[in-house]
Amino acid sequence: MVDAVVWDIGYLVSAALFILGIKKLSSPKTAPQGNRLGAYGMLLAVLVTMAKMNSDGIIGLELIVGGLAVGTIIGVWMATRVEMTGMPELVALFNGFGGGASALVGLSEVLKRIQESDIPAPGVELYATWIAIGLSGLVGWLTLTGSLMAMGKLKGGFYIPLTKKDDRGRRKWVNFPTWGPPWLNFVKGALLAGSFALIWLTIQEPENTDYIYGLAGVSGLLGILFVLPIGGADMPVVVSLLNSMSGIAAAFTGFVIGNNVLIIAGSMVGAAGLILTFIMCKAMNRTLTAVLFKSFGGGGKETVTRTKVGSDPEEVAMVCDGITKCVIIPGYGMAVSQAQHAVKEFADLLEAQDVEVSYGIHPVAGRMPGHMNVLLAEANVPYEQLIEMDEINSELPECDVALVIGANDTVNPVARSGEGPLGGMPIIDADKARVVVIIKRSLSVGYAGVDNDLFYENKTMMLFGDGKKMMNELNAAFKDL
Ligand code: TAP
Repeated sequence: MVDAVVWDIGYLVSAALFILGIKKLSSPKTAPQGNRLGAYGMLLAVLVTMAKMNSDGIIGLELIVGGLAVGTIIGVWMATRVEMTGMPELVALFNGFGGGASALVGLSEVLKRIQESDIPAPGVELYATWIAIGLSGLVGWLTLTGSLMAMGKLKGGFYIPLTKKDDRGRRKWVNFPTWGPPWLNFVKGALLAGSFALIWLTIQEPENTDYIYGLAGVSGLLGILFVLPIGGADMPVVVSLLNSMSGIAAAFTGFVIGNNVLIIAGSMVGAAGLILTFIMCKAMNRTLTAVLFKSFGGGGKETVTRTKVGSDPEEVAMVCDGITKCVIIPGYGMAVSQAQHAVKEFADLLEAQDVEVSYGIHPVAGRMPGHMNVLLAEANVPYEQLIEMDEINSELPECDVALVIGANDTVNPVARSGEGPLGGMPIIDADKARVVVIIKRSLSVGYAGVDNDLFYENKTMMLFGDGKKMMNELNAAFKDL
């Protein structure tokens, strides 16, 4: 038997690594290091827990090595396979796994205690343990089903297995619904009340497993109904909130099994996820209550009826020749087309002519927080050129050319009207620049499904085509000037 203080020291070191990791995540420059520190902290926490269980005679070495190997293979396989554009779905899935794992640990603790007749007599210990088990189940199951639902919504739908394949070898596709009549809120309220009632019943009859399984069913259904009405532009907020909830579930489970590092890590995830949720709500100008209980967004897409003649790269290159200030505004299309390196090359060409180049970064551009920062950092764009929305907006009236690459909702002036799915969302004021160049494949709508007046303004030049291809052609044209 190893002294308990050894394990506590191990947990303390891993908690310190988590804190340092989060601190370093605050700047794009130190973020990769922060990520690594967090991962080392988690590895240490897992190793210490396994070693402790082995020392206590709970599990053998084969299970430890086997579990670590299987987990590592699946984790590496998923993380290396995923496209950058599929990252939010993967994050949603991982949140769900976190919630599910916490709920399962809580459930297994109940079953173990029933089997070993280790149920405390009615009193503080019973209340404290069973409330923690109940809450870890409620939040954990809800997070699991809600996250799977959110993942499906981010993906847009799924192929039905075993259906007949079409000419392109694809099976039948079903869109994920966005549905939420006002009365659904009462159903959700009733389910939540039902969950608390079930937790209370588990305390009254701790040996009766029906209540704990009932809680799993009710919380799981609540998770599905919680995400079902939320669609479109609000999904990132939901994913972030679910992330926070997976942390809260883990913290409750930490109380159940008396694991300090789980309480610390869970609380940190819970707090960090909640802070990010509020930052995103602010960036999208939604209150959290409006996101969760007012069903809108992503329901329908506007049909584009207007037309606009496109420009060509040579014309755009000529406009950019001799300017003094250019602001590049990237969006989801830059991520899809992987145009970041070509964008950097364009910036280099401009800078060689003493043009001042900066990048306007909208907090919800792309499909995940920091999406644009990550891509541009990959292309070695200096961090100091990445300027946040408020700051860049004050510079745009002085800007000669705003080059919008694959962004749409985040530069849509209709947001200022306060109406519709984008109503009130702060945007990057691309329309205030002297000339606006927009690179995208068509006039089609962005994520929130709203047509964009900016495309049709006289000062706007549309460069229709794939982002990377058009950037490469623009670079070639610029070099030929
Ligand atoms: P969006 O409004 O999504 O518009 C992206 C545009 O990229 C589309 O209109 C599309 O037009 C174009 N595009 C797609 N593929 C392209 C390609 N290969 N080459 C060039 N262009 C391409 O983008 P945004 O301005 O970045 O706004 C983000 C939206 O996503 C917001 O509504 C936000 O709320 C939401 N959202 C954000 C997050 C986070 S946390 N960032 C997560 C989920 C959702 P074409 O089809 O005409 O090419």
